[in-house]
Amino acid sequence: MSLTHEELRKKFKSFWEKRGHKEVPPTQLVPQNDPTTLFTGSGMQQFVPNLLGEPHPLGTKLFNVQHCIRVQDIEEVGDNRHDTFFEMMGNWSLGDYFKKEQLNYFFTFLTDKDGGLGLEPKRLYVTAFEGNDHIPQDKESIEVWQEIFKGVGIEAKIGERIFLYDATKNWWSRAGVPENMPPGEPGGPDSEVFYQFDVPHDPRYGKDCHPNCNCGRFLEIGNSVFMEYKKLPDSTFEELPKKNVDFGGGLERFLAAAQNDPDIFKTDVFNDIVRRIELVTTASYSDPKNQSSIRIIADHIKTAVFIIKNGVFPSNKEHGYVLRRLLRRALLKLRSLKKDFKSEDVSVIARSVLSTYGGIYFDISNDESKVTVVVDEEMKKFEKSISTGMKLIEKMQSVDAKAAFDLYQTYGFPLELTEEILKERGHKIDRKAFYEEFNKHKELSRSSSAGKFKGGLADHSEQVIKYHTATHLLHQALFDVLGNDVKQAGSNITGERLRFDFSNSFTPTDEEIKKVEKIINEKINKALPVNFKIMPKSKADKVGARSFFKEKYGEQVKVYYIGETEKNIKDAYSKEFCGGPHVKNTKEISKLKIDKFKKIGSNLYRIYAI
Ligand code: SER
Repeated sequence: MSLTHEELRKKFKSFWEKRGHKEVPPTQLVPQNDPTTLFTGSGMQQFVPNLLGEPHPLGTKLFNVQHCIRVQDIEEVGDNRHDTFFEMMGNWSLGDYFKKEQLNYFFTFLTDKDGGLGLEPKRLYVTAFEGNDHIPQDKESIEVWQEIFKGVGIEAKIGERIFLYDATKNWWSRAGVPENMPPGEPGGPDSEVFYQFDVPHDPRYGKDCHPNCNCGRFLEIGNSVFMEYKKLPDSTFEELPKKNVDFGGGLERFLAAAQNDPDIFKTDVFNDIVRRIELVTTASYSDPKNQSSIRIIADHIKTAVFIIKNGVFPSNKEHGYVLRRLLRRALLKLRSLKKDFKSEDVSVIARSVLSTYGGIYFDISNDESKVTVVVDEEMKKFEKSISTGMKLIEKMQSVDAKAAFDLYQTYGFPLELTEEILKERGHKIDRKAFYEEFNKHKELSRSSSAGKFKGGLADHSEQVIKYHTATHLLHQALFDVLGNDVKQAGSNITGERLRFDFSNSFTPTDEEIKKVEKIINEKINKALPVNFKIMPKSKADKVGARSFFKEKYGEQVKVYYIGETEKNIKDAYSKEFCGGPHVKNTKEISKLKIDKFKKIGSNLYRIYAI
């Protein structure tokens, strides 16, 4: 029996707890305050302020398991290792230990038979940064790795066991290579560990195999980033005041290595889902011709279920658009395996996602109906557009790229289906011409979300920090004016404006909104100091600090407060659970203007301020 995901979670937790690390709860899948990305895509996203120097309430040694979605990988799903939903297991040192300890810890986790995964050291290959004109070669990591391998009787030569790569492979920042990093962004060289499977090298990928070769023999299972640099406005780098470790490794890939089979769809976070698909379609996963479709269905329905759980509905915009695309793509693949599938078939598969992650992410009795209702409705809509499209196509003499695009645009009729029908008639669609049409009419919604697929680059500029503090003032001022019914529903800050959503039992009048604005500016003009205290969660609740109900908090929390005196948190004007950062004094904000106020749902309101 190979390692189960539940066992892996337990091992990971106790490994880091034994080494003095505190567990940080995962952040939401749909991030707050990060307009650059639709979904949380890495474990480190919530720690960016901490990597730049903000203290973390749980200390300097942390670990967590973060559920992530990377939709930019959607086209790659279908092989044995790509998925759009995954969990990243991470550990962090915030100016505490550095390279030597980190690489030793991770190696121990991978190879230790009791506390770790018990992987064979000879199957592990590692990489390090080769250096460039600005940043030196990561000699320290090379030396540490040589030492570690020596300890298990392996001579680790460069080019054999340790491989050096340039910044495209061995540098990590949220923006990628150093040239792409905006000023203020942290980054650094990284060292990856790869697991070698018993898969022969495929020469189609190049003459020689090496860890970053894509033939499937090597799988990256963990990445230790040494966050030691910050990009400056003149494009050079300065060393961060504290050197940090940011480690992330995929839970699914750890499981694949532990079972010594590279196919993540054979691990137990996919087993039941794949089995369900086999039952529903009667297509067997062991038949190679079905594998790509089954993987796409399994991955997409899983991701869709997690998105729905986060309160998103299918739509033509942003998160909803991604959800729709995933469900419809899964459905088309299902259809290719079983012509007469029913919408209930999809719900059956969705249910297996819930049971796989049962006690971890879902409360089955509550979530099951929520998820299946959304899936069912979307499937019915799609079935309808398919049957309308079918009728139209049947009447058409010929279908060119423009007609295919119109079918897609007007009826949501997918290109894949048009192609399938035309194939039966012995015709073909000019795909290039179709995509030209597509680009001409690029749906606004899609293009506006497209840039966000990469994302996770929340801006930490001064203006953003000012808006962040202003958001706290706005939150409290709403309570002052409207009373205790106000509930924050979300906030979103860019360098240009702040946006704040809240619910309230009645519609505020224009005068009330004016009053809110007046209070905020009074507080700004009073030049109030902004401070934080780290305290147990229970105490924070006691002093009346406001928390955001959608977020999970650790035992120790950080409370930012704005008030007359620095010492007295209890009587402070505003107090909120918050990771920061903030301005030091409200006078730095200068002025805040409520630019727009509108109703966005029943009892739901939105404010834009500049
Ligand atoms: N930030 C690194 C990654 O996403 C490690 O956590 O790979």
